[in-house]
Order: sequence, then C-alpha cells, then structure tokens
Amino acid sequence: MNNRPIGVFDSGLGGLTVLKEIMKITPNENIVYFGDTARVPYGPRSKETIIKYTFQAIDFLISKNVKAIVIACNTATARALKEANEKYDIPILGVIEAGARTAVYTTKNKVVGIIGTDGTIRSKAYNAEISKLDPEIKIVDKSCPLFVPIVEEGWANTDIASLTAKRYLDDLMKEGIDSLVLGCTHYPLLKKTIGEIVGEKVTLVNPAKETAKDLKRILDENDMLRGDIGEEPKYEYYVSDIPEKFAAIAEEFLKKEIDDIKNVRI
Ligand code: DGL
Repeated sequence: MNNRPIGVFDSGLGGLTVLKEIMKITPNENIVYFGDTARVPYGPRSKETIIKYTFQAIDFLISKNVKAIVIACNTATARALKEANEKYDIPILGVIEAGARTAVYTTKNKVVGIIGTDGTIRSKAYNAEISKLDPEIKIVDKSCPLFVPIVEEGWANTDIASLTAKRYLDDLMKEGIDSLVLGCTHYPLLKKTIGEIVGEKVTLVNPAKETAKDLKRILDENDMLRGDIGEEPKYEYYVSDIPEKFAAIAEEFLKKEIDDIKNVRI
C-alpha cells in the first residue's frame, strides 16, 4: 500500500482526457495534475526541447512526492518516455503503447488511421508499436497541428473546428480506414466534431482507458495502490501559465468543480 499521489502531466488541457479515466479506474488515488500551459503546444518542437520540458515536469511532480507518473501526452511519450525511464526510478508510463494495443483490437479491416501532432506523427512511434503487434495492419497517418490550439481556445465544438477537421480528414477517409487513433490527448475533446466528419463506420480510438488500466496494473503489481482509508481522494491542479480558461474547460469536461488551480514556474 502506498498513499502518495499519482502525477499526471501534459502540455496543457489534453491530459485531462487521461486523468478522467484514471479517476474512474482508480477512484481512491490522490492525483497531482500538471499542465505546461505556458509552453503548449509541444507538437512542433524538437526532440531535445521536449525531453527538457518533460524532465522539468517530472522533476516538478517528484517534488510533489508522487509515486508514479503518467505522461498523458503523446508528443512527450513519443519523444521522451524512453529517456525518462532511463533517468528516473519511479514508474513512468506513456499513452502510445496503450493506444496502439487498443487500435489493434479495434480494427476489423486492418486499415488504421492515426492523427496526432507533428512531433508524434514524425516520430512514427504509433506505426512501430502497431506493426510490432500486427505487421499486417496498414497505417495511414496525418498530423493535425491546428487541433491543439483550437481545443486550448475552447473552440472544440464550433464551425471552425468542423471546417478544420474536414480539411485534415477528407484525404485520410479515402484510404478506407475503419479505426482512427486519436493520437493526441487533446483530440478526445474534439470527439463529437471528428466523429461527425468520419461518420459512424469509423471507430475513434482513445488511448486513455487502456493507459489507466496499465497504470492500475502496475500499481497493483508493485503493491502501490492507495489503501481505502475512508477519506476522499485529493486532486491538485497546477499550470505554468494563466489558469482561467483551463479551469472552465476542465470543469466542463471532468464534470467536477475545480476551485484551486495553482500557477507554478518550473
Ligand atoms: N496533448 C499532447 C499530445 O498528446 C500535446 C499537444 C501539444 O502540446 O502539441 O500530443
């Protein structure tokens, strides 16, 4: 048993889509969330920069005494998970292996689409994980860099989001995909908009649920789950820049009141 909190990190709001699943699957756990809103988006940045930002976020979460960390960001997972696991001793997991696994069991026709940031798509991390599990799967990938700023702006369900999604996804749809991996943790916030463009025949794959299950399994195997000590779990939120918009979107998405979001310099 270990009552220290879990750390969850993203460049901004996207990690909330993973946080929500973690809250569902491990409802007793205390959680510290960090959104690096001062430096979002990570997508266009170099591997070196993303490693530096990821290590800074991990150091911050470790200063909050976390027992394990979920990098709830595909870009940081693609660019820095391996390096983070080489550097730190606590369990650190990302979202890509879980997302690839979900895609492999979702697809029927073995044609899978992947959308993500420039960094994630260029890394080919999803392609490598999916091919490891099933080399027969055909992968069609596409970076959608405007989606992250649209979500951070609170415009996920607007005509601007729809037009952007149509522009990005029309070509991908011509390839006959039956599953589309939302390979950026911001994209589940666009689920309705993306779903309307790709239609019912394409299943949207969100890596978050499988990631949360992986976390629970790792905590369980290492006897690190929080005991049921009859106290409500504590959720703490930190951002690296002005939190107003973050609070409104987070409350709407998590369906929870969030009264205390702290600003930190990391
Ligand atoms: N939400 C992140 C991801 O999953 C990062 C988006 C960004 O900062 O570009 O890739």
